Amino acid sequence: MSADERATVAALVDELISDSETWDPLGRADRAASLAQELPTRLRRFLSEVKVAESDVTVLSNLPVDDDLAPTPVGWDAAAKTGAGSREEVVLLLCGSAIGEPFGWSNQQDGRLIHDVVPAPGMERSLTSASSSAGLSLHTEDVFHPCRGDYVSLFCLRNPDRIGTTYARVDTLSLSAALRDLLSSDSFTFHPDDSHVGVTLNAIDGTDERERRGPSESGAVLFGPGDRPYFRFDIDFMEADGAAATDAMRVVQRELSEHAESVVLSPGDAVFIDNYRVVHGREPFTPRYDGTDRWLKRVNLTRDLRRIYTANAARSRIIVA
Ligand SMILES: [Fe+2]
Repeated sequence: MSADERATVAALVDELISDSETWDPLGRADRAASLAQELPTRLRRFLSEVKVAESDVTVLSNLPVDDDLAPTPVGWDAAAKTGAGSREEVVLLLCGSAIGEPFGWSNQQDGRLIHDVVPAPGMERSLTSASSSAGLSLHTEDVFHPCRGDYVSLFCLRNPDRIGTTYARVDTLSLSAALRDLLSSDSFTFHPDDSHVGVTLNAIDGTDERERRGPSESGAVLFGPGDRPYFRFDIDFMEADGAAATDAMRVVQRELSEHAESVVLSPGDAVFIDNYRVVHGREPFTPRYDGTDRWLKRVNLTRDLRRIYTANAARSRIIVA
């Protein structure tokens, strides 16, 4: 973004915030969708081209970040209580609305539309975005659900240690025809990940873990256009039916790991990750919990809000899960 374009975005942020006494992303999402039409033409055209071409990883740079940014909250719940980084939430909401429709989950970060991605004490080695010392393995966001986002978008507020966001493209998979056939069959079951169930549930005794995880979905890893397929994959929250499918799953995991790339987000960078074409993760790092840790805002984007409304049987952007 040029300085002028950045100033235009900042003015729209002011307009959206001044519309309401307290910042409520969910309540302002419809308004953000119409205000997004006033974003700089070059930005809207660029994101439109990204959408049409199904570009897999896209970064916008030089978006506005407050000079007086609050210290990085210690855990997403602390961020939720203080409203820290609300201006940056508006930036992400506006830009995200230029490529998709923001939505969330009732059981993720208290049903907030925009999430905070920050390390949290006690979660360092968890399989969630609150982890730190353990890397976050490559995954499709919300792999278990038919309404999972078309894009995951992350807006960087702070990343002083230059911790990379990892990703791997479905196009890098080199698979035999037999493996492709197997991965295109409904031989896989995908489960809700720990960000949906809450790790504290692990302390509950006497309940089958899969029941506690809620609904799972059976389906294929590869699907969509044969010449340019879509996929879904999360080795930590999926299983295969039979030895051959299990082997195929392992091959995909190995290939993705071998072809993993990384993008280091700087403050003011927003990345749009095509959740049908790319899996993503995060490099490990050592958290400090002193207000200077890596801090991202995250939003899920769908191309069709009616998928969400239909799943909910209600006009709500928050999926009841
Ligand atoms: Fe993720």
